[in-house]
Amino acid sequence: MDERRWWKESVVYQIYPQSFCDGNGDGVGDIPGIISKLDYLAGLGVDVLWLSPIYPSPGYDSGYDISDYEAIDPRYGGMEDFERLVAQAHARGLRLIIDLVVNHTSNEHPWFKAACSGKNDPKRDYYIWNNPAPGGGPPNNWGALFGGPAWTLDEKSGQYYLHLFSPKQPELNWENPQLRREIYAMMRRWLSRGVDGFRMDVISLIAKPDDFSDGPAGPGGYFDPRARAAANPKVHEYLREMRREALAGRDVMTVGEASAATLEDARRLTNPRGDELDMVFQFEHMDLDGGETFKWNDRGIPLPRLKSVMAKWQEGLAHRGWNALFWNNHDQPRMISRLGDEGEWREASAKMLAVCLHMMQGTPYVYQGEELGMTNMRFTSPEQLRDSESLSAYRRYVRDGDIPEGDMLRYISMKSRDNARTPMQWSAAPGAGFTRAAPWMGINPNYREINAEEQLGRRGSVLNFYKELIRLRRAYPIVVYGDFVPYAPDDPRVFAYLRVLDGETLFVCCNFSAERLGFAPPDGFRDAIRDAGALRNTDASAELLLTNHEASAYMTEFRLAPYEAVVIRKSQNQIKTKEVS
Ligand code: GLC
Repeated sequence: MDERRWWKESVVYQIYPQSFCDGNGDGVGDIPGIISKLDYLAGLGVDVLWLSPIYPSPGYDSGYDISDYEAIDPRYGGMEDFERLVAQAHARGLRLIIDLVVNHTSNEHPWFKAACSGKNDPKRDYYIWNNPAPGGGPPNNWGALFGGPAWTLDEKSGQYYLHLFSPKQPELNWENPQLRREIYAMMRRWLSRGVDGFRMDVISLIAKPDDFSDGPAGPGGYFDPRARAAANPKVHEYLREMRREALAGRDVMTVGEASAATLEDARRLTNPRGDELDMVFQFEHMDLDGGETFKWNDRGIPLPRLKSVMAKWQEGLAHRGWNALFWNNHDQPRMISRLGDEGEWREASAKMLAVCLHMMQGTPYVYQGEELGMTNMRFTSPEQLRDSESLSAYRRYVRDGDIPEGDMLRYISMKSRDNARTPMQWSAAPGAGFTRAAPWMGINPNYREINAEEQLGRRGSVLNFYKELIRLRRAYPIVVYGDFVPYAPDDPRVFAYLRVLDGETLFVCCNFSAERLGFAPPDGFRDAIRDAGALRNTDASAELLLTNHEASAYMTEFRLAPYEAVVIRKSQNQIKTKEVS
């Protein structure tokens, strides 16, 4: 068994502050609002809270463009509120990690303003500058993720600065040792305020490509330099230095957002020596429906591909690293709308997706509202959008005629990050219990049916199912530490796998379709299940640990209801006892 660590045994809950709970009645979520929901979170059973950025920001990229690393954005409260949040979370046994966004700053950060004041300013080298191409224009053909070139001209000096996301998010130059020292000192100050670790934004990209030449042009006529940046081995040096300088001797957790990282990169980043990161978010499973127009299409994720990618990461990091498991976050549309069912089987599919993810090896992340089965929003006009990525894609693709307007709105309803950012649905009251004022972005009208208040008291709700799932993780170490073994990898409708640990096995099987299906268990399980199903015998070697279907027919007929998930446990020891007696 791998070394036991608390962050392997934890469930993390992600809070997107502006959409979580509005405590002061201005339509925007805030820290007092979060504090008022700590009992709810403790009741859910999660262990760690991850707060998306709460720092001062012009808000171009919803807080991921930071203009001051050392303060709290007044929209969310003040430092006293933050300190109260840490104390009150800790008092309930909840840990708190914060977002660390140090690949780039906002263009309104004082460092960048100083850097633009002149080529000789000491902060100039905190960013990445280049001269125009010989014939004029940007230094190379790199593109920014949010559209246009990855370089913007600083008129005053005649040089271009690099930005992999938007011109309002200039890239920091990690080659500069003074910059690195400032970042580590800033991290130590947050740790001394009691935070328990960091979620590190696009940390795989902090070392820029060594090779600044043009690359093969993709969507929009630009080369995407992210894979080249992620491949630069210097990221490992920087992270080891960060570990020594900012984190050594502290029992904290780190999770890195590893955009464009390969399995090999992730193995180094999360190696069990623990000198870089504890775990990473990889995106291969989220990007399976991408194409020429990036994510803007209605292609859908093919289940067999999803299964093989998940299995690749499960097996690839086993004993050599650690997975962060997620279906949702603030950058992804709601998974239930992608792979589940928004209609008749909404609750069943929400629970099935939860089982499928939480029973894999790794640390599971629950994104706010996922525990209620919240769905995508139906956007009917660009005025409803707040996300700069979606807005700029809308303008670009529609203007250039690459995607007709009606199709683009449909794709946005399916894929926009704003689907995750609609306010949390606390109750059926006006404002969904999120706010008493006009909310900063539209609330999904289905809050009258889908909300926490309704689910808290209802047996069989998605929320109560999550509690049960989280409880199982505590009760059975195999859920955390068992090895993952794929089962029936080519089945197009059922995602099944085994977990194995010290003579014990879990069989997890999830129906990703709205059909009733017969699905045979692995040989070693067949008789055990028959025994248990037929005899309802508590001594039987197999037991049904969890199902999302009230009258499951799996143990007697090997039949799965629409979107049914079952978890069956078999223990070798029990079999032996039976054989002996
Ligand atoms: C990460 C964040 C995303 C942000 C981007 C640039 O991917 O999760 O929200 O837009 O970094 O900071």
